[in-house]
Amino acid sequence: MRIDIVTIFPEFFSVLDISLLGKAREQGLIEVVAHDLRDFTHDRHRTVDDTPYGGGAGMVMKPEPWGEALDAIVGDGASDALLVVPSPAGEPFTQATARELAQEPHLVFACGRYEGIDQRVVDHYETRMRVRPISLGDYVLNGGEVAVMAMIEAAGRLVPGVVGNPESLVEESHEDGLLEYPSYTKPPVWRDLEVPAVLRSGHHGKVAEWRHEQQLERTRRVRPELLDGRDAS
Ligand code: ADE
Repeated sequence: MRIDIVTIFPEFFSVLDISLLGKAREQGLIEVVAHDLRDFTHDRHRTVDDTPYGGGAGMVMKPEPWGEALDAIVGDGASDALLVVPSPAGEPFTQATARELAQEPHLVFACGRYEGIDQRVVDHYETRMRVRPISLGDYVLNGGEVAVMAMIEAAGRLVPGVVGNPESLVEESHEDGLLEYPSYTKPPVWRDLEVPAVLRSGHHGKVAEWRHEQQLERTRRVRPELLDGRDAS
């Protein structure tokens, strides 16, 4: 998978060198390049923003540097790449979205700052490629960088080969629409708290049943809306 990120803070993405995704990059499974939007400006101050038409607070990112940066990445015609625009006004990012992004051979992320990017950038690229404005959640960040980092981590670990044991991906929160069950390791007693006996029983059927009950109980308590539309039994 190839990932291009356009941002005014390319150094922000240096953390992708470490941990699981760093290893995936070393192994050539994921190639990530962060581009500095200011490299596509032509004035002395490397200006990327201007005041909004119609008035209002804040600044809007100018379309010209975005056009030059994105054309440098995808060419000046039609492209098979997917352009992801992080925005609180986008569709919600879920595990299903992460699975879809993980299938893409080429992702381009456009990190906006200030009050967002001139709408014509999305309108223009929609005529040349697939564009998805995506929100990390119902809150406002200062810019798209943190959202993109979360999306890259969630999608990147689903790229085949990135997580050593693919089975560990199956029993996680949200993979089956439920929250995950609680996990325990040694010692069997810690600060007077005991590991549930069923987990030490060696009875695989009972363990599976207990874990499923725990998933349902946790989901009902913390995220009841996830159970809407599921069979009540
Ligand atoms: N940029 C600012 N807030 C955001 C959010 N909630 N999701 C994605 N991008 C954003």
